[in-house]
Amino acid sequence: MGSYAVTGSASGIGAAVTERLRAAGHSVIEVDLRDADVVADLGTPEGRAAAATGVLGRSGGVLDGAVLAAGIGPSPGPDRPRKIAQVNQLGTVELLTALRPALAASGDARAVVLGSNSATVTPGVPRRVLRALRTGKIDRAVRALRLFGPVAPNIAYAASKIAVTEWARRAAVTPAWAGAGIRLNVLAPGPVQTRLLDEDLANPVAARAFRAFPVPVGGVGDAGHLADWVMMMLSPAAAFLCGSVIVVDGGSEAWFRPGEWPRPVALRQVPRYLSRYRAFARSSR
Ligand code: NAI
Repeated sequence: MGSYAVTGSASGIGAAVTERLRAAGHSVIEVDLRDADVVADLGTPEGRAAAATGVLGRSGGVLDGAVLAAGIGPSPGPDRPRKIAQVNQLGTVELLTALRPALAASGDARAVVLGSNSATVTPGVPRRVLRALRTGKIDRAVRALRLFGPVAPNIAYAASKIAVTEWARRAAVTPAWAGAGIRLNVLAPGPVQTRLLDEDLANPVAARAFRAFPVPVGGVGDAGHLADWVMMMLSPAAAFLCGSVIVVDGGSEAWFRPGEWPRPVALRQVPRYLSRYRAFARSSR
């Protein structure tokens, strides 16, 4: 039986994943702000370091999988955009990077990052915020987000999910991850009935926008069903799944952007494409 780390294990999707892994006989190292094996605040550098030390110590340096489900939503609050970037982006990227050697030690590991369809259905996320997050300049991102006033947390949330998704896709295909037997993928849910959504909808403006938001199949997602998708992404069936984003959102993303994907490589991108291809072929000789 395997050994897994799950962040955000005390509630919602992380709790449902923990329950399923334990029911299947695996051992789970829970990480959360409370009610967890490793109690740590992933929104601070000290908390992330403590989480990494706690998980690595309990796992004995070998992990078969990691599920990064800790996250906070776009509900209003003091300095919320900064907290969103710190928890959702750094709490995922820095912790998972610290756990990578333990995943590699298993030889056949899985990592699942919780993204969101907010990454692709939220309009107007500015490039300069994304550039700042990509390069770890949280202060700069927060300054640029001030322009957005009351919707700054929503833009920050979408930006944080774009940042983790991009990071995961870039990392997933490298020798350090794919080459070390780790399958790193992203699950991107639409609205799911959890505490995060309840907190968001307590804001009347968000609740109104939510009621008007198109979800072709209707209703909201179920945390247990999302956990079932995570279990699939942790299973042997994911041996050939690498750097993929699995969108489970009742059809909102397809409704908004049916022509955005798949999209062929544009002719002007061919030289760059070929040079990356050649570099890959050289490195895998
Ligand atoms: P939830 O609120 O039920 O669970 C999130 C867990 O993360 C909580 O147990 C919370 O204590 C933990 N957490 C929050 N901040 C933390 C910190 N600083 N350090 C350690 N743990 C912390 O939410 P849910 O819905 O289960 O969210 C799981 C993931 O799914 C999140 O990354 C969220 O962004 C994502 N997601 C959720 C959607 C939804 O509608 N519920 C939609 C799309 C993505």
